[in-house]
Amino acid sequence: MAAHLFKSLALGALELTNRIVMAPMTRNRAEPDGSPNELMARHYARRATAGLIVAEGSWPTVTGQAYCRQPGIETSAQIAGWRRVTDAVHSEGGLIVLQLMHAGRIGSRHIKPIGVETIGPSVLQARGQIWTDSAGMQPHDVPREMRADDVRTAVQQHRQAACNARDAGFDGVELHGTSGYLSMQFLYSGTNRRTDRYGGSAANRARFTLECLESMASAIGADRVGLRINPGNTYNDATDEGSAATHAELMRQSSQLGLAYLHVMRAPTADIDAFGLARRHFRGPLILNDGFDGFSAEAALSAGQGEAVSFARSFIANPDLVRRLRDGLPLAKFDRRSLYTPGPAGYNDYPDA
Ligand SMILES: Cc1cc2nc3c(=O)[nH]c(=O)nc-3n(C[C@H](O)[C@H](O)[C@H](O)COP(=O)(O)O)c2cc1C
Repeated sequence: MAAHLFKSLALGALELTNRIVMAPMTRNRAEPDGSPNELMARHYARRATAGLIVAEGSWPTVTGQAYCRQPGIETSAQIAGWRRVTDAVHSEGGLIVLQLMHAGRIGSRHIKPIGVETIGPSVLQARGQIWTDSAGMQPHDVPREMRADDVRTAVQQHRQAACNARDAGFDGVELHGTSGYLSMQFLYSGTNRRTDRYGGSAANRARFTLECLESMASAIGADRVGLRINPGNTYNDATDEGSAATHAELMRQSSQLGLAYLHVMRAPTADIDAFGLARRHFRGPLILNDGFDGFSAEAALSAGQGEAVSFARSFIANPDLVRRLRDGLPLAKFDRRSLYTPGPAGYNDYPDA
């Protein structure tokens, strides 16, 4: 088995030794100021046998912070912290890119430093609540509508974050285009009521994401930039009148950029064939995600659905997932209770097989 999973692969400038990708996972282990620490360096280094690690969604600016103890890639302390992580992964022979995640309207003033506001494409508060260390569960803030200069600033912040990621030793960056965060808030008609060139038609709603990708590419090269999408995703109160058509437009236009890859999550509940849609509309390599095991991943690659497969939950309790898949060893189960808690428990104490 596994004739495909263990073949090498080039995704733009990224040379993977196998096609098993570690998907991004927010684990809230950073310092309170968003600086990555030794715990995180150890966590990622132990998973460096993945062909590629996509490190957890990290904010390009504190305005875009969603979660407590979520890392950023804005300050010199954060860049230095990430440098320890990338050095540790590289010394184990791994490759690592950073996912850039501006949360937009998702977030609370109880999480960000005093005076930092929450902004989004339109004045539409997300339904639902968010955990804050200081005040427990809180509603999401009501966002201030981004003016034209806020949009320009946010695009520029993605460029700066890509530069910072390069300075921190990352091999590339991935834009988080799913789960109801800023990029998706612009993309979806239910969260974007704008009447300027960033609202209305699918092409206009895709513009913010495309401009972020272009600015990231101008900083570090398009062949080191990826995009993550999840057509049909409704997480964080995200709704769209035609998610498949919206994503088709985004994919057609992003095909022009020469990106390293498109990371496609299929939403199990959505009535959309996300992988087929991506094959039809995106020219470039695909990383497939959601719900794969070794057998189904091998089958998807041999059927030509994509070039690589990413695994998230399987990596939590199986730092040596690559070896376990190769040798057919059983997979350990993770403990949900310690997914987002501070400290090493449930993070760095899962043993190798
Ligand atoms: C604890 C946890 C944190 C996650 N954080 C992120 C994230 O920061 N960015 C992202 O794009 N997806 C995130 N996801 C989604 C995963 O990357 C992945 O798409 C999902 O778990 C399905 O893949 P799997 O079936 O292999 O687990 C997260 C998932 C989990 C379980």
